[in-house]
Amino acid sequence: MVNGVRRPFPADPRTSLLDFLREHLNLTGTKKGCDQGQCGACTVLVNGTRINSCLSLAIMHDGDEVTTVEGLGSASALHPLQRAFIKHDGFQCGYCTPGQICSAVGALHEVERGVPSHVTEELVEPMHASRSEMRERMSGNICRCGAYSNIQEAIADYIGDAA
Ligand code: FES
Ligand code: FES
Repeated sequence: MVNGVRRPFPADPRTSLLDFLREHLNLTGTKKGCDQGQCGACTVLVNGTRINSCLSLAIMHDGDEVTTVEGLGSASALHPLQRAFIKHDGFQCGYCTPGQICSAVGALHEVERGVPSHVTEELVEPMHASRSEMRERMSGNICRCGAYSNIQEAIADYIGDAA
């Protein structure tokens, strides 16, 4: 399933999930930056967990629920994090933005599940989605425009840790 719709697998089993989304399903919100797992532009959610779709084959996701940025919000009904990005001007060219947004949603799920990060000081439940936690967890999403400070403000606003 992709964004709640059942989709047939691509004929070529070598097709990456990223190419399947973009080239076969025309879901071009998910971006191809490096195509080798280093930039995070291709981040999508699989059963709520964020992954780099360039490093995964489409056929590996039989029975999975894949969510792209198109499945998070629409132009008429933006996801609250999308609204926060607009409010805080959390982008310049916007190329990294879908990956940033999917990644932040996935990172918040990690916190909710109690998955620690490098900066987690105490394993307490429930874990707190602080600004520093989210900053660390977003470190794999590269923004070539350098909009990091505003991206951070948008995410902090979304999690209720605005300065
Ligand atoms: S395109 Fe997948 S991590 Fe860069
Ligand atoms: S806004 Fe341009 S790459 Fe991030």
